[in-house]
Amino acid sequence: MTESTPKRKSGRPKLKDGEKGNYHVSRVEKKKRATRKRIKSLKNAEAKAKKKLDSLNDKSANIKHAEKLMRSGGLAVEENVKKLPKSVRARLDDHTQILFNPNDGPQTDFLAAPEKEVLYGGAAGGGKSFAMLMDLLRYAHNPNHRALLLRRTLAELTELIDQSRKIYPQAFPGAIFRESKNTWSFPSGATALFSYVDKDTDAARYQGQSFTWIGIDELGHYPTPYVWNYLRSRLRTTDTTIDTYMRASANPGGSGGWWIKKMFIDPSPPNDPFWATDIDTGKILLHGINHPQRPGQPLFQRRFIPARLTDNPHLAESGEYEAMLLSLPEVERRRLLEGDWDVADGAAFSEFDRAVHVVEPFEIPYNWPRIRAADYGYSSPSCVLWGAVDWDNNFWIYRELYSSGYTGETLAAMITALEEFDPPMNVSVLDGACWSKHGTGPSIAETLTRNGVRFIPADKNRMAGKIELHRRLMMNEKTGEPRMRIFSTCTNLVRTLPTLPLSRTNSEDVDTKAEDHAYDALRYMCMTRQTGLPHAGMMNRVKEQTYTPINQIFGY
Ligand SMILES: Nc1ncnc2c1ncn2[C@@H]1O[C@H](COP(=O)(O)OP(=O)(O)O)[C@@H](O)[C@H]1O
Ligand SMILES: [Mg+2]
Repeated sequence: MTESTPKRKSGRPKLKDGEKGNYHVSRVEKKKRATRKRIKSLKNAEAKAKKKLDSLNDKSANIKHAEKLMRSGGLAVEENVKKLPKSVRARLDDHTQILFNPNDGPQTDFLAAPEKEVLYGGAAGGGKSFAMLMDLLRYAHNPNHRALLLRRTLAELTELIDQSRKIYPQAFPGAIFRESKNTWSFPSGATALFSYVDKDTDAARYQGQSFTWIGIDELGHYPTPYVWNYLRSRLRTTDTTIDTYMRASANPGGSGGWWIKKMFIDPSPPNDPFWATDIDTGKILLHGINHPQRPGQPLFQRRFIPARLTDNPHLAESGEYEAMLLSLPEVERRRLLEGDWDVADGAAFSEFDRAVHVVEPFEIPYNWPRIRAADYGYSSPSCVLWGAVDWDNNFWIYRELYSSGYTGETLAAMITALEEFDPPMNVSVLDGACWSKHGTGPSIAETLTRNGVRFIPADKNRMAGKIELHRRLMMNEKTGEPRMRIFSTCTNLVRTLPTLPLSRTNSEDVDTKAEDHAYDALRYMCMTRQTGLPHAGMMNRVKEQTYTPINQIFGY
């Protein structure tokens, strides 16, 4: 043992003067010390709990605030984010929590558009369907908001519903989709019906209903403006805080391209609002002169917002989709990628021009040969057209009969009555199906004949008939006039012929699902070989006001 390694002291440390060791405190003192210790630890716990509560309160306030903002503006769009508290904004800064950020440019313009009717049209992939789903939420915080979103077929609709399921419950927590009714119910009480309308007549489903927002995705799938115009009558509300809107998206082309172009694109440069016009006459639609607030003033505004693929970074950046579109044939490519509406023409008879082909009625010379052509239908309309052929072989369609519900007998009576002052028909053709018999009973043609109105079966070659009609509508180079003109009184023919779409599957034919009764009758007429050169017999007939039978089969 050396000096440098002192012996380890063991046992209790020595107390200094006046100091009390632990072993020398009273029981009371010990208790006091323990109590003080407990109080200290409880205080610590309390402070900790308070801190936690504060932070929870903070979070809940933030969430409530965010929800309120979402209700008022719909969504956490950029502007709303600015109003959020710092803490929430910090969480949103990485953008992962923003539900929806409109793409700069057209998508933002579309969602902010105040016009009554807006078309968001153009390239596929431009973000149109997505924008429609978002725009529908404009007033979803208002209990009186009733939205209707349509597509043409159920299959197409399913796509939209799937997408809405991803977005709506996040935008409006508590929003419920009722599958049996295809309806969204929002917490405010607002509703949105997702549905499809295929044929024009299906639009009548909404008769008597009213909506505050009506949207059609892919409007170009509708061959005529009927559904769009019909639905406009369903747009109304008694709630003065809601503005009613119609919204549509469309790709150029499609069977409805021709009327969409006339309604939304031709009247004004893109993005410029304009007063809605009548697509046939081009005149501005006006309030009636007895309107209490705005007598004789323009009805409402329309606007066309063009979309290009490049506007949607969500698809455009990957480049793959664009590459796919680039591989399409020229016309399709220009329509889908560049959103070019000038190549959009789905109308079968795009050469039809009211100014050229429609004329005011005049008295037809008695000696012009006459043709009667008919397409028969009972539940769908029957159409009978009367034409006269002038001496240059031009057709003049001077009368039409267009109505459903005729039996052979009543149709015969109607035709007889209408022809009271006509000279006898030279040719009279009817849909060949009217001769078909499944049993022993009388066919339609037979009933017509028995009632004094005779027909022969029409030439039903669809392709040749369509080409013949094109030839008639074309300008005759010698005369500078078309080979066929229609009296303005033939309203159904004038209405349906220019709007008749091409078939989606066979470009040599029209869409037989469309309203083609007047077209069929006209086609039958074009396929007759009636010429206008009067032969001697006919000239005599004029002089004598009698006639000799032309058609030897029936003797008239
Ligand atoms: N603002 C947006 N935010 C997030 N995704 C978007 C946005 N706009 C479009 N998209 C996405 O881009 C894709 C194409 O958009 P879509 O609306 O289907 O185009 P379109 O109907 O014009 O063909 C979709 O997957 C859609 O979800
Ligand atoms: Mg789409």
